[in-house]
Amino acid sequence: MKRQPLRLAILEAQRVLTAAGVASPRTDVELLAAHLLGVERTKLMMVPLVDPPTVEALHELVRRRAAHVPLQHLTGEATLGGVTLSVGPGAFVPRPETELLLAWGLATLEGVDAPVVVDLCTGTGALALAVSNARPDASVHAVEKDPEALAWARHNADRRSRAGETPVELRLGDVADPTLLRELDGTVDLVVCNPPYVPAGTPVPVEVRDHDPPEAVFAGRDGLDVLRHVVGCAARLLEPGGGVAIEHDDTHGGSVPVLLRSGRVFTAIEEHTDLASRPRFATARRAVD
Ligand SMILES: C[S@@+](CC[C@H](N)C(=O)[O-])C[C@H]1O[C@@H](n2cnc3c(N)ncnc32)[C@H](O)[C@@H]1O
Repeated sequence: MKRQPLRLAILEAQRVLTAAGVASPRTDVELLAAHLLGVERTKLMMVPLVDPPTVEALHELVRRRAAHVPLQHLTGEATLGGVTLSVGPGAFVPRPETELLLAWGLATLEGVDAPVVVDLCTGTGALALAVSNARPDASVHAVEKDPEALAWARHNADRRSRAGETPVELRLGDVADPTLLRELDGTVDLVVCNPPYVPAGTPVPVEVRDHDPPEAVFAGRDGLDVLRHVVGCAARLLEPGGGVAIEHDDTHGGSVPVLLRSGRVFTAIEEHTDLASRPRFATARRAVD
């Protein structure tokens, strides 16, 4: 069988994804080819020729991507901080937007020995595992309401602890439950949370509409149904001076800081933008009583 130039297969696949309206066709094709060939994306040029079965397999992945199956469902992986997570149907795919929230959280832990950290709405375990990876001395607790998402988190957590990382404590739970993690009340150094926050009825990309669980994305008419409980839960869990970071919709740049201010429990309330300069997460410190 005659081998073909990979460059040409990539160009053809890029045309298919462009015609299908996929947002970043070149990046996606290269990531799919790299996944298929088991090489890093930056090393693709070292694979000049590929055999027909490989070209066929690439076409199949591209056909599914053109049907707006998320790239990460096709590769089976997403990354946050220093961790690679298994992802797939039934759980939210971690997004690059969350990297800056993670960085803020890790910065607040500098100088704190053996910190206690809580990740509310953990999904695949992304924030919890990224914090634990960066801070092996931390006790990290993670909460998720959806058993299917929690199964992904357990899979990811088990894999990392088998590889020698500090285990994280996972539990099925609802941030609206006033007894959630009660044993940690007033002892937590950092609460991180990327909750569902899209206002109901907001149009979202096909990848989100058809492949992320709706309860991981939407949260009531104003998008704040879950986030309101997160603010209350963080106020209860944090020790004085402890930090909280909550991701939110780009329409919430005003409302989430107002929510944080309303209970008079938080201080140093700040709003932050994402890499595209859109309002994306709010942070605060638990006031000293
Ligand atoms: C936007 S996803 C984020 C997942 C993960 N934190 C990340 O950044 O990839 C929100 C997650 O919150 C979970 N969730 C929704 N409502 C919840 C609640 N009331 N209590 C706990 N988890 C909840 C969803 O099932 C989903 O996994």
